[in-house]
Amino acid sequence: MRILVLSDIHGNWPALRALEAQGEPFDMCFFLGDAVDYGLEPTPVIDWLQKKMTCGVRGNHDHGVAQKVQVYGTTGYRYLTAITRPLTIDRIHEEHRVFLRNLPTTYSITLNNIRFLLVHATPRDPLDEFGPVDVEFWRKRLEGVDSDFVLVGHTHIPYALQVSKTIVLNPGSVGLPRDGDPRGSYAIVTEKGFELKRFEYPVEETIQVVMQSPLPEAGKNLLAQAIQLGRMPHREKKN
Ligand SMILES: [Fe+2]
Repeated sequence: MRILVLSDIHGNWPALRALEAQGEPFDMCFFLGDAVDYGLEPTPVIDWLQKKMTCGVRGNHDHGVAQKVQVYGTTGYRYLTAITRPLTIDRIHEEHRVFLRNLPTTYSITLNNIRFLLVHATPRDPLDEFGPVDVEFWRKRLEGVDSDFVLVGHTHIPYALQVSKTIVLNPGSVGLPRDGDPRGSYAIVTEKGFELKRFEYPVEETIQVVMQSPLPEAGKNLLAQAIQLGRMPHREKKN
């Protein structure tokens, strides 16, 4: 059993393609949500998931795109969601929208007596709640949850926490990390344990797709910086 755990791909096809090309062996793939928004190649990403995913859950961005929810925002990632959402909706096929809509919000699976719970955010609020790297936060969220692994995404920051008998494992983001390291991240889980891993991908290819898109200039530049830096750029200090 060798499980590839992916989350928050966000339409970044060059990243997902590079991850596959590096030949990481796996016999199952768990997806923790957010296939779409930000990166502007949602179609090959969803096609890939439809072929390779063993099981997966819906992220807040998958939900928003599937339900055609328009977001309003003028700064940061919310602004980037606001401007990339209409393009994403435009670029996917109806069949892709149905795939995103039909992803469950939580999914439980037991393999070789190891119990997994998959959820994009937290068991209490599967789509939206931000789960920090905080054992006490997770202790409260895991009351009544009986799993060996709780696999989560949403924060775009890889981490692993031992919370009583449960391991909370966040593989970080394949397509838009937020921890200041622009390399994609993922996790491998086997019977023996888990590994958090990073991989290089051709960031310039993702940025080129952004630059060739009809997004507003300010949006293109902000998204390019977020991809290149692996975080939002710091605002210039006025003095
Ligand atoms: Fe995300």
